[in-house]
Amino acid sequence: MPVITMEDVHHAYLKGTSLETHALQNINLEVSEGEILALAGPTGSGKSTLAMLLNGLLVPTRGRVLINGLDTRQKKYRRELWRQVGLVFQYPEYQFFEENVFKEVAFGPSNMDLTPAEIEQRVTHALKNVGLDPEVVRERSPWSLSGGQRRRVALASILANRPRVLVLDEPTAGIDPAGKRQIFKTIKKLKQDESITVILITHNMDDIASMADRVLVLERGKPFFMGTPAEVFADPPGLRSIGLDVPFAAELKHRLNTNGVPLQTDGLTIDGVEKEINSYLRSKKSVVSSQ
Ligand SMILES: Nc1ncnc2c1ncn2[C@@H]1O[C@H](COP(=O)(O)OP(=O)(O)O)[C@@H](O)[C@H]1O
Ligand SMILES: [Mg+2]
Repeated sequence: MPVITMEDVHHAYLKGTSLETHALQNINLEVSEGEILALAGPTGSGKSTLAMLLNGLLVPTRGRVLINGLDTRQKKYRRELWRQVGLVFQYPEYQFFEENVFKEVAFGPSNMDLTPAEIEQRVTHALKNVGLDPEVVRERSPWSLSGGQRRRVALASILANRPRVLVLDEPTAGIDPAGKRQIFKTIKKLKQDESITVILITHNMDDIASMADRVLVLERGKPFFMGTPAEVFADPPGLRSIGLDVPFAAELKHRLNTNGVPLQTDGLTIDGVEKEINSYLRSKKSVVSSQ
């Protein structure tokens, strides 16, 4: 059974009023356990709406959303959904409200009927998972940390709930490269060690190339493309037509291909493209020297 199922999902804000906005339409989606699905699309394309539909914060105005078979429209599953689906909002650190890191990360588990020892264990594990030393940060105010560290505390506070699905809305926006690398390392580790399912919202195409198993590209609330990163990047003009960037490696591959240099690489990394250009040049040279 897929961990996430979306069947003909629509979401309209302010339905029935003159301000009705169709934020999402015709979304059909299945995501398996341990999969990293990137969600891309220009501003206003419905990414955050889709994120909120996954933990029941919003319910679809048509169609249905199932998480491990639980229908998000059913009120009796609200609490279970909140446990199973961890949603890390954009700029989550703006929502800190506890005086120290320990209390901030312990907030979810403290509402879960756990013993103090179990809570302690969860907090420690979550902080280690995001690359923070629990002993060093536990008594500190979350506000005294660097931007990248604060973002990681916010992620740890969601991980402490032990979600099976992690939804990250632009998790690396506005933080330094080291903080960004650490967050991506954490996501990969969670996938590998705990088979956690990840929905990664980003408009950074290089991040998609390095992180995602599949990509859903949205455009004005509708599915524009669904496939592997290599498949999405095979169409730079299509991506640009909706205002998205194209990774340099993919652009280079595409231009060489359209100019008669047939590269087979997936176009995801510059190393892959470089290797093929080198072997292409070598093959040309050997043709010339044997003439
Ligand atoms: N609370 C809301 N009330 C009314 N319209 C909204 C609300 N939130 C988002 N929208 C509209 O829904 C559409 C999708 O928004 P959103 O899901 O935030 O897109 P994204 O995250 O891709 O930028 C946009 O047209 C946006 O203006
Ligand atoms: Mg958004």
